[in-house]
Amino acid sequence: MNAFPYKNGELYAEDVALSAIAADVGTPVYVYSVAVMTDAYRLFVDALSGQRAQVCYAMKANSNVAVIRTFAALGAGADVVSDGELARALMAGIPANRIVYSGVGKTREDMAAGIDAGILQFNVESLPELTALSEVAAAKNADVEIAIRINPDIDAATHEKIATGRKTDKFGINIEHAPQAFAQATALPGLTPVSVAVHIGSQLTDIAPFRTAFTHVAELTRQLRAGGIAISRLDLGGGLGIAYGDETVPTSAEYSAMVAETVGDLDCDLIFEPGRFLTGHAGILLTRIIFVKHSGERRFVIVDGAMNDLIRPALYGAVHAIQSVREPASDAALGEADIVGPVCESGDTFATACALTNIPAGEFLVIRDTGAYGAVMASGYNSRPLVPEVLVNGADYAVVRPRETLQQQLDRERFADWQD
Ligand code: LLP
Repeated sequence: MNAFPYKNGELYAEDVALSAIAADVGTPVYVYSVAVMTDAYRLFVDALSGQRAQVCYAMKANSNVAVIRTFAALGAGADVVSDGELARALMAGIPANRIVYSGVGKTREDMAAGIDAGILQFNVESLPELTALSEVAAAKNADVEIAIRINPDIDAATHEKIATGRKTDKFGINIEHAPQAFAQATALPGLTPVSVAVHIGSQLTDIAPFRTAFTHVAELTRQLRAGGIAISRLDLGGGLGIAYGDETVPTSAEYSAMVAETVGDLDCDLIFEPGRFLTGHAGILLTRIIFVKHSGERRFVIVDGAMNDLIRPALYGAVHAIQSVREPASDAALGEADIVGPVCESGDTFATACALTNIPAGEFLVIRDTGAYGAVMASGYNSRPLVPEVLVNGADYAVVRPRETLQQQLDRERFADWQD
């Protein structure tokens, strides 16, 4: 579904003209479509309809509370990785018993907060974490259901920085050591191991690594059950990729069929933690052209958005499609342009040699497919304020995070007491 079509010669978000949002809220600004999020959620869930599946939205992809509430209203749970995410999930109306707590470095405070909230399960990633969680739970006289996240030593064939399932990655417990870890968990007070978890990486564009990983999970589950450990739930993580360009990606139906093939006969409740799949296509970054600068052969289109607002191109070399808000005439000549931000690094480049019409300063561009890992990864580098977020629903829109003000930035800091 494309909720950002051209209508009447200009780009819209659902039924709202992006030029109207730019005039009202200013730029840069992230704009999210409820229709795209809803559509993606339904696509994912409907494909899994023959199975006992619960989506726990990986909120790290986009943790704006209004976005989370959109998924909460559809029945989603949440995958959280910090105290902050847990608080947001609860604030947005996700029931505690649909929350799983992931992460390789949970502190005892994180654990206590999760236990107090009554979450569904902790996904434990190491033996020291097992011991610590047991101590925290026992001190509260609580009994906590856990998954052990296994590391199946699989290369997910994705970007180096977001692959998580190789034995050289910091995640999970090596699958060969998993039976021992489960045995240990059974013996520890305060813990009930009920689940096996796996997540081998993000933006997977091939289904084969999932299949291999889930097959390993199924084998381990049978082995654990044979040893008397009652595994009733599998957490199959996230990672399903989306098309940023013309790459082909697995469909949710293909993904679901592979799930049924690999773990369908185990009679387990299944948890999924999609992030990018649910929000990636749902967002754009709307930005204004400040200057167009010609330098030798090159045309630099300098926009008011920058790497601090959207770091994926600088960090991963990610390619996001860029479009002008004014619809180009069908016969408009295209020329190459580099779309760059104002930050003082050459890495502050959104696109190199991108085909663009002769578009002047003052006009607007959108950077597509930035609903996942966009606003959440923003920083205040160069003392640039965090940009606003707008949620569009049909002809309605709402500012769901206002632009940070300079005063708010300054108020966070103070002088040392020996300074005048
Ligand atoms: N579950 C766990 C345990 C995860 O670590 C992640 C993502 C997910 C679920 C959700 O994965 P997804 O369905 O979104 O692929 N900043 C990077 C992506 C980092 C992903 C980290 N973990 C990017 O911009 O590509």
